[in-house]
Amino acid sequence: MALFSLTEAELRTRTSLKWQVFDPDVLPLWVAEMDLHQHPAVVDAVTDAMHTGDTGYPWGTRYAEAYADMAEARWGWRPAPEQVRRSGDVMNAILALLVGNTAEGDHIVINPPVYPPFWQVIEGYRRHITQVPLTASGRLDLAALEAAFTGPDAPAAYLLCSPHNPNGTVHTADELAAVGRLCAEHGVLLVVDEIHAVLVDPGVPFTPVLTVPEAQHAVVAFSAGKGWNLAAFKAGLFIRGTQARTAFDNLPPLANQSTSQMGTIAHTAALRHAQGWVDEVMVEVAANKRLLGELLADRLPGVSWTPAPGTYLAWLDCSALGLDSPRNHFLTRARVALNDGTDFGADYGQFVRMNLATAPAIITEAVERMAASL
Ligand SMILES: Cc1ncc(COP(=O)(O)O)c(C=O)c1O
Repeated sequence: MALFSLTEAELRTRTSLKWQVFDPDVLPLWVAEMDLHQHPAVVDAVTDAMHTGDTGYPWGTRYAEAYADMAEARWGWRPAPEQVRRSGDVMNAILALLVGNTAEGDHIVINPPVYPPFWQVIEGYRRHITQVPLTASGRLDLAALEAAFTGPDAPAAYLLCSPHNPNGTVHTADELAAVGRLCAEHGVLLVVDEIHAVLVDPGVPFTPVLTVPEAQHAVVAFSAGKGWNLAAFKAGLFIRGTQARTAFDNLPPLANQSTSQMGTIAHTAALRHAQGWVDEVMVEVAANKRLLGELLADRLPGVSWTPAPGTYLAWLDCSALGLDSPRNHFLTRARVALNDGTDFGADYGQFVRMNLATAPAIITEAVERMAASL
């Protein structure tokens, strides 16, 4: 039985964001929740904790050890215990790292189009954004990064998304080494969000930034939240490079206090017992990417998409359709909810982001409706 086989009727009983925000006739393919059942090991771990009343504060290094074991098995690399600490969740880890290691008024680099909270975590805390957009082919622009690092508003930090949300780029070891060298040379703190690390198409290598010798001053924010669909369970990890001790020393008070016990239990069970499951998820996502490519070619040739191996998200360029707002058009006329490109950067109003972590039948229905709406 496929993992992505839940029906629309089953999914409409959910109370979480994805299936609740829009009217019942809207197919929601937006926020990054996955339309599947939980892995039984996670269900058991959480259920056992409830039955035994194990619902106090989290303690110990179980989550960190489960991460280290996964990193060793998956990527042949193992962080030492002192390199890993608990965080509330990934965005709170990033917030703590940026607030603790930069000052108000500092500049921080991001690569639009990029996950909307990256903008908020900088501007909302009185830092300035320096935009270094991805290249036309969706990759890091190393020359533009270097120019930004040496310009008048030299940044204090660089917040990198790896793999990149929304377009799914998986950065190569060479790119990460170049980024590491640039950050070291210009004294820029490198903060890398690896929440999508395990969500990579089958056979495509993912390079954790901390396996790169040139990037040992980087700090990573990770959680099992995306890979195992555990946004309901708040927990995360900071992982620092061997040369990033001060980035940890500068973390503000309470940065390690907000992890939830149930989150820790759920994420740890996922990392320990559901590695094969997430690989199966990505086999099905890869098939959904192929399906979307065929559907677009057949039914929506005006939408252009460069599939990329990371994440279960598709970043669709609708410029050729001549719509004011593709997101609003598809919501009102097709009753399909997608993420608006403008949330990922002001220049991306002609893009929408589609979530492919759902049943093939739902993707097909969404594209049919979008085609019929034009
Ligand atoms: C790149 C990225 N970082 C962070 C998050 C959210 O993580 P958390 O809920 O742990 O803050 C998401 C969720 O989609 C994401 O795509």
